[in-house]
Amino acid sequence: MTDRYTQAVNSGFTKTLATRLGLPRPALLRRYRAGDPLTVGPVLVLSDGASKADADELAQVLLGWDVDVRREPSGDHRWGAVLLVLTEAAQPTDVAEPVLAAGSVLRRLAGNGRVVTVSRAAADGDSPALAATRNGVDGFLRSVAKELRAGATGNGVVLNDGVAVSHPSALATLRFFLSAKSAYVDGQLLPVGGADTAVVDGPGSWERPLAGKVAVVTGAARGIGAAIAKTLARDGATVVCVDVPAAGEGLAATANAIGGTALQLDVTAPDAGQRILDHARTRHGGLDVVVHNAGILRDKLLANMKPAQWEAVVAVNLAAQLRINETLLAAGLDGLHIVSLASTSGIAGNKGQSNYAFSKAGVIGHTRATAALLAPQGGTANAVAPGFIETDMTSSIPFATREVARRLPTLAQGGQPIDVAEAIAFLASPSATGVNGQVLRVCGQHMVGR
Ligand code: NAI
Repeated sequence: MTDRYTQAVNSGFTKTLATRLGLPRPALLRRYRAGDPLTVGPVLVLSDGASKADADELAQVLLGWDVDVRREPSGDHRWGAVLLVLTEAAQPTDVAEPVLAAGSVLRRLAGNGRVVTVSRAAADGDSPALAATRNGVDGFLRSVAKELRAGATGNGVVLNDGVAVSHPSALATLRFFLSAKSAYVDGQLLPVGGADTAVVDGPGSWERPLAGKVAVVTGAARGIGAAIAKTLARDGATVVCVDVPAAGEGLAATANAIGGTALQLDVTAPDAGQRILDHARTRHGGLDVVVHNAGILRDKLLANMKPAQWEAVVAVNLAAQLRINETLLAAGLDGLHIVSLASTSGIAGNKGQSNYAFSKAGVIGHTRATAALLAPQGGTANAVAPGFIETDMTSSIPFATREVARRLPTLAQGGQPIDVAEAIAFLASPSATGVNGQVLRVCGQHMVGR
């Protein structure tokens, strides 16, 4: 589970040697610690002419977050971030000036710096020129992200029709992208809307956004699930940790470490949803967040796939989530946030994983459909699609394949469980209520295109 290469090329003699030999040097990623500054240096806010008012408004918000904000690409700074506000750009020619101004400072972007775009989604009824301009930002951002070095990332906030830049979920998304919480999120554009979403964004919403909330995490005995449970607890939630009885020791360890409770349960049990609901209500008085993390692999080429291998993967990774969600929806919980683990395999496909990719693409499908069902009561359903994450699951992959998977992403390394956990904690937080039915990849920009 350790990426020794990344550690070696960032320390002592081996760092010097790697530099001399011109070997790739994956950066040590900056990860969130309470109290650290939001960015690693000043933030340059740029916009096209028509978007200036939105840029002014965001600059004020950044000042409120104790960020050193600059509006001109001059001075001898090591920039912490470049924020490109393109919300009102209407013609392809509008974006040239701010985009090229951003380019002029990229050589002075600090390690672990950020480029974040704020733009609008192309919508039905847009003129062809407007749609072209809005969609153009997508290709621009994904390409710039691939050009950044030293752990810097590029991501975009995409406002849906009628959503103001000051929408609390737009600001929460912007803050997440600027921060070290999004260390392994790269080349992603996250839509935010609709305009009528009720969002709570109270004091302390950055440090402890889940204070007073009750969260359930399945597959919490180890790996990504344990990291999610710990991160939700760090953010203030009381956490119910679920895993199979065979993983009871790890389950108890996770629950004890965070003052949560353990529920030994196979998520494929027909009454799993009811048992989760009963446990959360009787022990903790309610249920606000459910993270469907439990998952298994049974990799085989389809030509060699046994029925049990297909069926087990679909039962744990997909059917269990559907059945549990049915119970939760029937209970009519207010403001329920569901976050499900998908995978980049469910987006791009992966050889030997037709069963797994079916289940994970299925997760993306049911997430979109469930989002619409939860929205009327202020709830959300989102999915997180990790790429290669350093866990027990991936340590079983043969060395050569593992090494290729690690070096392919733009960030040239695997992610850590905490990176997935941070994305989930963000999506589970009340201020992200305007992000609904979305898939957020945590993959270091692993795939070509989407
Ligand atoms: P892991 O194998 O380390 O942990 C999975 C946990 O789920 C284990 O504690 C296991 O006991 C539990 N579990 C399995 N079946 C269960 C059941 N029927 N009922 C209750 N608990 C059950 O896996 P890892 O790597 O932490 O992955 C977590 C999730 O992230 C999975 O859904 C996986 O598909 C997904 N993911 C992981 C990636 C990676 O690179 N590690 C990449 C993409 C997605």
